[in-house]
Amino acid sequence: MAAAERAAELRALLQHHAQRYYQFDAPEIPDTDYDRLFQELQAIEAAQPELLSADSPTQRVGAAVLDGFAPVRHALPMLSIRTETDTTAAGAQAFDARVRRELELTDDAPAVGYAAELKFDGLAINLRYEAGVLVQAATRGDGETGEDVTQNIRTIRQIPLRLSAGAPALLEVRGEIFMRRDQFEQLNARQREAGDKTFVNPRNAAAGAVRQLDPAVAARRPLSFFAYGLGAVGDWPRPATHSATLDAIAGFGLPVCADRAVVQGAAGLVDFHRRMGERRDQLPFDIDGVVYKVDAVDLQRRLGFVTREPRWAVAHKYPAQEVATRLNGIEIQVGRTGKLTPVAKLEPVVVGGTTVSNATLHNLFELRRKGVRMGDMVIVRRAGDVIPEVVGRLPGQRAGYVPNFRMPRQCPVCGSAVQREKGGIDHRCSGGLFCAAQRKQALLHFAGRRALDIEGLGDKLVDQLVDAGLIRTLPELYTLGVAKLAALERMADKSAANLVAALETSKRTTLARFVYALGIRQVGEATAKALARHFGSLDRLLDASTEQLLEVDDVGPIVALSIRTFFDQPHNREVVEQLRAAGIQWDEHEGEVVDRGPQPLAGKTLVITGTLPTLSRDDAKALVEAAGGKVAGSVSKKTDWLIAGAEAGSKLDKAQALGVAVLDEQGLRALLGAGSAA
Ligand code: IVH
Repeated sequence: MAAAERAAELRALLQHHAQRYYQFDAPEIPDTDYDRLFQELQAIEAAQPELLSADSPTQRVGAAVLDGFAPVRHALPMLSIRTETDTTAAGAQAFDARVRRELELTDDAPAVGYAAELKFDGLAINLRYEAGVLVQAATRGDGETGEDVTQNIRTIRQIPLRLSAGAPALLEVRGEIFMRRDQFEQLNARQREAGDKTFVNPRNAAAGAVRQLDPAVAARRPLSFFAYGLGAVGDWPRPATHSATLDAIAGFGLPVCADRAVVQGAAGLVDFHRRMGERRDQLPFDIDGVVYKVDAVDLQRRLGFVTREPRWAVAHKYPAQEVATRLNGIEIQVGRTGKLTPVAKLEPVVVGGTTVSNATLHNLFELRRKGVRMGDMVIVRRAGDVIPEVVGRLPGQRAGYVPNFRMPRQCPVCGSAVQREKGGIDHRCSGGLFCAAQRKQALLHFAGRRALDIEGLGDKLVDQLVDAGLIRTLPELYTLGVAKLAALERMADKSAANLVAALETSKRTTLARFVYALGIRQVGEATAKALARHFGSLDRLLDASTEQLLEVDDVGPIVALSIRTFFDQPHNREVVEQLRAAGIQWDEHEGEVVDRGPQPLAGKTLVITGTLPTLSRDDAKALVEAAGGKVAGSVSKKTDWLIAGAEAGSKLDKAQALGVAVLDEQGLRALLGAGSAA
């Protein structure tokens, strides 16, 4: 085959597999095969540069550093929309009333159909496709003229460089570039660890990445995209509604958010606003509201524009996720590993719907960089289930001299020296388990649901046990009797008896849970499972060399070192031995599948979504794993079953789209039972 033909074939193949991977989470070939195809294409293009084309997947990265962005005059101006800041139902009702008035609809005329969408909190972009190939990406700028950011946009894998067959000769698609919340947190964690500047919120991080002059840096910033409308189009009989237009855009291979609906009248808008508001915290990305658009294009034409805003669309806000308040003080919190975290004590304020009075300042470096001092007005951000944080201060005069915050030299809890590793960012208490704060956190971790699962051993009781001097080491937990416990304040005999029983129950566990419960730095649940599976016995793990540890899946040099260091300390060995002596036991062969009884779900992958009637998510996961199955976080073609409970959302949609079998809790129980019946 001629090189040109093979290059075209490779591009089509790579485009197809990239879409399966990045847009549908459903790869059809292993990564290594993808890499092989990619390298073959790179080799052809290197040998014959004339075969290089703008839509080649090899062109996503590697472009030269720019010294500025060229201006782009938009073929059609990029409009903004009117914002309804009233976050109650009245905001939606006011919009519907305006639309009806302007369309001169009488009260008995039928409800207007609206396309209701999420208002993504990122930045607007115009993607221009000519003959199906992405030729230009431009920011909004002032609406008339934006900036050419094509090279950076090419690095976003969700954005196709070539549209599927059937796309019009000219198609401009408009949408939002944004960063997912988890990816934003990871990016900031990396920045924080490296002592680099962190980003205030996902929107700023996304905007910074899009306006990066070095595309290689942009490529390392994880960006996402959703299309929400059109710019200039040529040679295309455009669908009669906005919702159908988005369906068509999705059909061309562009990502369109599934959380949208066509609703009728004000009641439909109010309902959508409420439903999305309830789901806001669970969405993987920030939204600052919803957007309503009159669905029928002919009605949009009749409504027209006022200056730069269409009369047929409005943004309806939600309460802000970033709010200013006063910083009343800074306290130090000591974590399980001794890390000292400065915590802001705030004038209580409602952020994203809940009242916040504490927020993390992460570490001394961040605190200094943000320049916050006692009494300042600061900005607090709370989004999703992420811990609220202080992201900066409002500019303004201070009343007088306010000294800079200093880290204490002694642990505020135990008085041990505070240390900072050379070149490290974090300050730590050197007291170890001598420090009551670390002891408390270690106990809570040990007793946690995913560790030894000691029911009833929560915050308050741990505080009492440690403060009363009843417990200094983990094994001492198992010396607690009803009499000792009942002597504690507010501890009824019945609760004391329950705790003793729970302690007894906790003694039968698994090696993985035990290893996780020890609280070794860098060893989370997944690593603990991998260690248990690999070594099969505690003694083998205790004596494993760094080289042997490195053979375990997911264990790198830092984790291996942390494990080795932990087990090399005589007092940690002693703790392990005392726990064993207290009667904690597990099946040493649990890692070997042969000894595990019926495995009806061996080799099967399940996804669990929504609320099940009786099982918690953790319980369901444990049952599936005990039956040999795997629980994955997202639905793909490889998913065997989706277990869906009440309020199941996009995962259910996706499973149905991919033809994955969907079961309820009863169905899951039937699957689990299949093995024992045999
Ligand atoms: S439609 C003519 N739909 O909100 C209508 N905008 O001023 C043009 N935005 O910065 C905008 N999500 O980037 C539309 N689903 C959505 C949106 C959305 C976010 C942003 C847009 C612009 C602002 C509107």
